[in-house]
Amino acid sequence: MGPESCFDFVKLPKTDLHVHLEGTLEPEMLFRLAGRNHIPLPWKSPAMLREACRFRDLAGFLAIYYKGCEVLVTEQDFYDLARAYLERAAADGVVHTEFYFNPQLFCRESTPLAAIMRAIFCAMDEMRDRISSFYMGTVMRTRPVEEALRALDELAPWYDRIVAFGMGGAENGNPPSRFQRYFDACRERGFRTCVHAGEEGPAAYVREAVALGIDRIDHGNAAIQDPELVRLLAERRIPLTMCPISNLRLNVVNELSGHPLKRMLSRGVCVTVNSDDPAYFLGYASDNWAAVHRALDLSGAELRQLALNGVEASFLPEARKAVLREKIKRVLPSA
Ligand code: HPA
Ligand code: ZN
Repeated sequence: MGPESCFDFVKLPKTDLHVHLEGTLEPEMLFRLAGRNHIPLPWKSPAMLREACRFRDLAGFLAIYYKGCEVLVTEQDFYDLARAYLERAAADGVVHTEFYFNPQLFCRESTPLAAIMRAIFCAMDEMRDRISSFYMGTVMRTRPVEEALRALDELAPWYDRIVAFGMGGAENGNPPSRFQRYFDACRERGFRTCVHAGEEGPAAYVREAVALGIDRIDHGNAAIQDPELVRLLAERRIPLTMCPISNLRLNVVNELSGHPLKRMLSRGVCVTVNSDDPAYFLGYASDNWAAVHRALDLSGAELRQLALNGVEASFLPEARKAVLREKIKRVLPSA
């Protein structure tokens, strides 16, 4: 596509709307925190952990991801994690991030929820001038819906700082519809809703998400198999937060040239590019842009549309959206 083929995607003002804070824990920090908290690890070094990041599927990844979460114990640990992620994302040209964090993973006597939330919000506030960020709560779909409702209740003291709630974890056998009460409760309390669907699960799970009135769907790859569903997503402009490198590493796609992102985009779906768990998938936001651009030979107009979709799909107020659109148009002017 001409000059953009060597485009430096760090310079593109980007959003990252599907990233798990726990999945930004780099191996070096993971080892440092394990050392200071005296937590034994199954790997001998950060390099060996990186070696272990050759996943067969989502389950294989989640096992290592949950293991990694064990080293996060003190308030300082959560602050260090959030601060490092926001610094890195800002340096990567991310102008706005909406990240997930799942307190269900850290229900331990030793770590009061208040300390965790204080740490994360403190890092967000300190970084405010360099990157805008929203916190999204999330729950595990492998646990009972009652537990999700309890997790939602437990975050009540911080509702004014939370924009949305989502759901992740092992997808197959755990359809969105099982969590209808949770999503209804989220909406009743004024939150936007998101759900991981169609990553390893079928198009039917994406359909369920649409039927549940979910605002934004994480991944959504399988929808490509249902042309009527693709039309529905396009018509309603229900965004998909796609994560190309994650999909490659978890064998959701065999190669990036077969990724459905470009086909969805051409059919008018509000698809966006995101990083998911960058420390484990070895790619941050700009790496995802570069990889998908290389594999799918995206045109300047497609790159611009993808970047603008990220702004549209965000939960930002209109005034900030307008500022970000202008930033994008300055870097990627229309032909
Ligand atoms: N899918 C489901 N759950 C997750 C993921 C994912 O890609 N990352 C972190 N939790
Ligand atoms: Zn995810």
